[in-house]
Amino acid sequence: MIRSTKHFAFFIIILSGIYCIQGCQQKNDKQGSTTDKTDTTINPHHLAMTPPMGWNSWNAFGKEVTEQVIRETADSFVSSGLKDAGYTYIVIDDIWQGGRDSTTGLLYPDPKRFPSGIKALADYVHSKGLKFGIYSDAGTLTCGRMPGSYGHEEKDANLFAEWGVDFVKYDFCFCSDLGSTNIDYKEGMARYKAMGDALKATGRPIVFSICEWGDRSPWIWGREVGGHMWRMGSDVYDIWDSPRSDQDPVGILGSIDGETNLRRFAGPGGWNDPDMLIVGLNNTGNIKGGGCNDIEYRTQMSMWCMMAAPLMMGCDIRHMNEATRTILLNKDVIAVDQDTLGKQGYRVMRKDGWEVWKKQLSGNRVAISFLNRNSQNTNATAEFKHIELDSTAKYTVYDVWKHAQVEDANGKISATMQPHETQVFVLTPNK
Ligand code: GAL
Repeated sequence: MIRSTKHFAFFIIILSGIYCIQGCQQKNDKQGSTTDKTDTTINPHHLAMTPPMGWNSWNAFGKEVTEQVIRETADSFVSSGLKDAGYTYIVIDDIWQGGRDSTTGLLYPDPKRFPSGIKALADYVHSKGLKFGIYSDAGTLTCGRMPGSYGHEEKDANLFAEWGVDFVKYDFCFCSDLGSTNIDYKEGMARYKAMGDALKATGRPIVFSICEWGDRSPWIWGREVGGHMWRMGSDVYDIWDSPRSDQDPVGILGSIDGETNLRRFAGPGGWNDPDMLIVGLNNTGNIKGGGCNDIEYRTQMSMWCMMAAPLMMGCDIRHMNEATRTILLNKDVIAVDQDTLGKQGYRVMRKDGWEVWKKQLSGNRVAISFLNRNSQNTNATAEFKHIELDSTAKYTVYDVWKHAQVEDANGKISATMQPHETQVFVLTPNK
C-alpha cells in the first residue's frame, strides 16, 4: 500500500514534469528562445547548445581500446578535416579501467593499454584543439564488469576533472532494478543526479551523457539532473533493420522509429540521443549486425541530422574509405544538425513505404527529408499542404547531398530515391 502510494506520487511528479516541459516548450516556441540559454543553474557553462559531435571508441574497438588508438584518432581528426567539420569530443568508452585502488579508492586505467595514464592522454587530445571524454556507470560495475561509480561519484568526478575530462558517458548496468519489470524511476534519477551534481561541483565544464537506454524516460528529467544528452533506446548495431524493434539490437530504422514522438524534449543544452553513428563500420569492429551499404549509412547520417541528434562517430576513422569520408564530412548535412534553433525534426507524412520529415531551421528556412524504407527505387511527391508547409509558398531548394541548388519548389516537392536512400533538402522562402 505504502509502495503504491509512493508510486502514485511519483507518477504525478512525472506527469507534472511532462506538463511543465510541454508548457515551457510552447512558451519558448512563441518567444523563440529556450529556458536553458538563460538558466545558469541547470546548464552553468552553456554546454551542448547544439548537439555534441565527436567519436566514441565502443563500436570499433570495445575492450581493445588503447592510448595509441586514441592518439592516432586525435591525429586523424585534424588531418582528415573532421575537426574542421565540427567533430570535437574523443570519448573512451567502457573497459579503459584497470580497477579501483583499495587504499586511495581512486580509479586507475589498465596499465597495459594506457601506460602513460589518462591525464597524459587528455593533454594530448587537448593539444590538438579537441576535447576528451571518458565512460563510467551508475552501478557497482560497468556493463563490461569494470568498477562502477556508485558510491564514489564525488571521488570519480574530481578525478575526471583533474585528468582534464570534458565529457562523461554514464551507463546504467549493475543498478538495483536492472532487468526487472518494476522499474524504479526515482532511483534512476537519483543515481544520475549524484554524478551530475558531482560533475557540476568540480567547476569544470563537462558534458554529461546519460545512457540508461530510455527505460526511465530520461528525456523528462535529464536536464534537471545535469544531463546534456540522453539515450533513447538500445544500442544501434551495424544493421539496416532488426527483426524486432523493441529489443537489442536495433538497426538504423528501429532507432529512427523510437525517436519520433520525443522532439519536444530536445533543444539547446539537452538532446535526445539515438546512439552512435554506425557509418563506416562495414561489418567490422566490436558490434555485430551484418553491415549496411553506403546508401544506408548515408540515411543514418541524414536522419540523425534531421533529428538534431548528437553525432558521435563509431568507425575507425584512421582508416575511413572515400564513401565514409564523404558521408561524415558533409558540412551541408552537418549544418542541418547543428542549426542554432535546436529544433528536432519529425515525421510529417508516411505513404507507400516512404516518409517525409521536417525540421525547422533558423532564418525561416526548413529542412525536408524523404526517407525510402522500400527495397525498390521509389519516386515520391509531397504536396506542401500534407507536410505542414503553406501551400502558396515558393522555395529555393538546396540538395545537401548534391551540394547544389535544384529546381524551386512551388506547392509540392519530389524525390527519386534508391532503396533505403534518404534525400535532404534545405528550403529557403523566395521573397
Ligand atoms: C552499453 C551501452 C554501450 C556501451 C556499452 C559498454 O550499455 O549502451 O553504448 O557503452 O554499454 O559496456
